[in-house]
Amino acid sequence: MKLLGQTAREVSSDPVYAELKRHLVDMTGLAYYLDKDVELASHVGRRLDALGIADCGSYLEMLLGPCSGPAELDELTTSLTNGETFFFRHQELFDALGRQVIPEIIERNRDQRRLRIWSAGCANGAEPYSLSILLERAFGPQLAGWDVTIVGTDINRDFLVQAQRGEFSDWSLRSMADDLQASCFRRSGNTWTIDDAYRRGVLFRYHNLVQHPFPALINELSAFDLILCRNVMIYFAPPIIQRLVGQFHDCLVPGGWFAVGPAEPNVGLFRAFETVNAAGAVLYRRRQQPTAPNIAWFQASPAGALPAVAKTESGSRILARLPRDKATLATGARRRQSRPAAAARREPDSAIGQALADARQMLNLGQSAAAADCCQKLMTVEWMNPLVHFYNALVAEHRGQHGETEQALRRAIYLDRDFVLAHYQLGLVLLRKHDVRGAQRSFRNVLALLERRDAAERFPDADGLSVETLRQLADMQLEILNCT
Ligand SMILES: C[S@@+](CC[C@H](N)C(=O)[O-])C[C@H]1O[C@@H](n2cnc3c(N)ncnc32)[C@H](O)[C@@H]1O
Repeated sequence: MKLLGQTAREVSSDPVYAELKRHLVDMTGLAYYLDKDVELASHVGRRLDALGIADCGSYLEMLLGPCSGPAELDELTTSLTNGETFFFRHQELFDALGRQVIPEIIERNRDQRRLRIWSAGCANGAEPYSLSILLERAFGPQLAGWDVTIVGTDINRDFLVQAQRGEFSDWSLRSMADDLQASCFRRSGNTWTIDDAYRRGVLFRYHNLVQHPFPALINELSAFDLILCRNVMIYFAPPIIQRLVGQFHDCLVPGGWFAVGPAEPNVGLFRAFETVNAAGAVLYRRRQQPTAPNIAWFQASPAGALPAVAKTESGSRILARLPRDKATLATGARRRQSRPAAAARREPDSAIGQALADARQMLNLGQSAAAADCCQKLMTVEWMNPLVHFYNALVAEHRGQHGETEQALRRAIYLDRDFVLAHYQLGLVLLRKHDVRGAQRSFRNVLALLERRDAAERFPDADGLSVETLRQLADMQLEILNCT
């Protein structure tokens, strides 16, 4: 057994070091470390010392542990990631957004009055807040009454906590003119706090681009008008970048915009997009033609409504066709007996499942009116089905109908109080309403409900989201809430 306080050279010559490095790169995407052994081994060495662990094998075992692993990976990640960022970084991009991109989105979305932006790898929040300042100062009157959301995500919990606090040093503001600084921040000593006006609609979420699913309706990572992922993928290996670019593409509405860092353009990588050259910046655009879901079966019925199988059956036959626990659930609720304690499996029959899959696809394409129509029709036959209420909530959220979202989620939870995804989503809704206690309660419910579930289990209704990932997401939301 080796002694503690090992040098980087000693850590990197440990027989299990190579396997540990592979695991860390796989989990974070940070292929940058593949040829930086001195750097990586000294980060690992510090963790070994802090934990009193003597060798890489024991540390890897800890990282692979279902309980200890995710928390320790988070801890190590806070030192592995580079969070260099500042307000209005690469001014030419912000000029292009202000001149071309935002006006185009406003024109395109004028009926929906909704604008959704994702800053992926947002570090301490300088990027999403810069976007908020741009929108408020250059487009405030045009966006009055709109549902504007800017989601900042990152893998580094410390950065997210800083972002949520909205406090910055002089260094982060270095490229802003003095008068702009003075009108967007309150200064106290060397700390600059962003004004509340620029916090509106800015949300922060824990998200690992390499490991967590997206597009994802849970966590609301879909149907964006604009995505920025700048100076993040430069640390990743080419096959991962290729995969992520495809995922970002699918997260945009048709015609939606994508921006990477000024050193990252690559003709081959962005072939699926249309390239738009602006002065000093290159942008990518998802092509216009949406792949509309095939909903012919759904529209063909005379009522233009119900899945044929459900429409022609009596309520009881519909219940009979549902999976056993869902039928039990519905019957129980109808009798107003105590609500079912055990989680319903929520595996819809094929017609309902197809309709829900279509609603998801419509949402991903930004076709929220069509998705709402689809859900409304489902409600007429499946009003006791918590999953349908849950989807109704996702649709309402996409349409900026936050009150309806909350009601639909509460209905889903009433019908199935163990419906963990609904609890998580309700937490997000309450967070948006600044109902801190309510949000904390919801996220704690999520953690309690997940306690005895297998970490690797995946939710069928959540784009491949696993129990462990949801646990991390809820845990992170609680951490952010506790620090504010
Ligand atoms: C250099 S900063 C870029 C910040 C900002 N986008 C900008 O350009 O100013 C890179 C950020 O990517 C984040 N990051 C690295 N790997 C990530 C991953 N797998 N998932 C999500 N974020 C990640 C880091 O934590 C860090 O905050």
